[in-house]
Amino acid sequence: MNRIEAAMAVTIIVGAQWGDEGKGKIVDLLSKDADVVARCQGGANAGHTIVLEDKKYILHLIPSGILHSQAICVIGNGVVIDPVVLFEEIELLKSKGIEIGGRLLISHRAHVIMPYHKLLDQAQEDSSIETKIGTTGRGIGPAYVDKVNRTGIRVVDLLDEDILRNKIRLNLQQKNEILKKIYNKAQLDLEAITRQYLSFDKKMDEYIADVSTFMNEAIDSGKRILIEGAQGTLLDIDFGTYPYVTSSNPTSGGACIGLGIGPTRINRVIGIQKAYTTRVGEGPFPTEFSGDMAVQMRELGDEFGATTGRPRRCGWFDAVIARYSVRINGLDSIALTKLDVLDTFKEIKIGIAYRYGTKRIENFPAELKILQHSDPEYISVPGWNMPTKHIKTFDALPENAKRYIETIESIIGVPICIISVGPDREQTIKRDVFDL
Ligand code: IMP
Repeated sequence: MNRIEAAMAVTIIVGAQWGDEGKGKIVDLLSKDADVVARCQGGANAGHTIVLEDKKYILHLIPSGILHSQAICVIGNGVVIDPVVLFEEIELLKSKGIEIGGRLLISHRAHVIMPYHKLLDQAQEDSSIETKIGTTGRGIGPAYVDKVNRTGIRVVDLLDEDILRNKIRLNLQQKNEILKKIYNKAQLDLEAITRQYLSFDKKMDEYIADVSTFMNEAIDSGKRILIEGAQGTLLDIDFGTYPYVTSSNPTSGGACIGLGIGPTRINRVIGIQKAYTTRVGEGPFPTEFSGDMAVQMRELGDEFGATTGRPRRCGWFDAVIARYSVRINGLDSIALTKLDVLDTFKEIKIGIAYRYGTKRIENFPAELKILQHSDPEYISVPGWNMPTKHIKTFDALPENAKRYIETIESIIGVPICIISVGPDREQTIKRDVFDL
């Protein structure tokens, strides 16, 4: 085990941009030595590509650590669980011979995505009276709305038929009115939904656990724990580009709430950033490309959403965002992914501030208007114009690639501990830069 892995005691991995930073690969890399891999927020809006028998599949809910037979995978109370997706994934993994029994734990406090959440999510997106967010349509926002509104249905509620039916009845009284009167949609049937969710309970029973107790005992007994955040810092409900955000806290603080562990139990927070920037869905993106550059980068980086297949918007690395992510998440270090995608560029830019009228802004602003109408101030470094996919050590990288990485480090003030130069595990440069 090297020093990065040894430092894992309790490590949080967070997306430090707008999601899709390549967290899946880094989590996979680190989870080969983890005893526990846990998800703490979001739901089936996330997507990790995994390869089984040479075919690609996407896991939306179950942590990709499930592929490493020693790891116990946990879905925490902060996750909103779509049972339809959950059982599809369980069946897929079982059919490929992956042992799940005793290795998957689901919090009894987690909220459940109901059919009306998905219908409302899609209806709101299609409606002309609401801001189009460009959601994944997986019912995430409406499920978190019910959680905060204290009308949500939790995994524990599935255990009692009377409680479940009553909660669904109360919800349908309101949701059916909204679906009919505002969105002109068909009504949902109480008995059909109750039957469907009772059948989920029977299948879910063996996985249900008190996750907070499990996590704290695992920490007490010195287990190596990896907490994988979904989405990214700029999609955080509090710190993202509101309202163009998801409805949970993908930042490191969300990990404690979403798993029932205290902040004193966290040892390390690693932020994942691409060597450039992407975003899917609507919302401001200061360093976004237009025209040919956008197409070129999308093709080079294969930038299409894992959950929805939508083309991702692309742009230069934004150090204003990177510094903000370091601050909000308390990042110790960064894993920089997809460096190889920049191999053919003559000149590479880094956004270091925003110009808004006569103002120069260095701290990521809260005002959408500023984000939408400011011009980034860039510095340039020369490209390296040679392939890096095969390179195994930092020293072997082309001089200009090293310069790019060191420039980013000096602007954002934290070390880059891992550099990824391709999708395979072997295409990873680990730098032992931690002072443990
Ligand atoms: P929601 O999470 O489906 O409500 O979508 C809200 C916003 O978050 C939209 O812009 C989505 O495209 C974005 N989003 C949600 N999940 C992900 C993800 O895993 N990667 C990247 N963007 C995401």
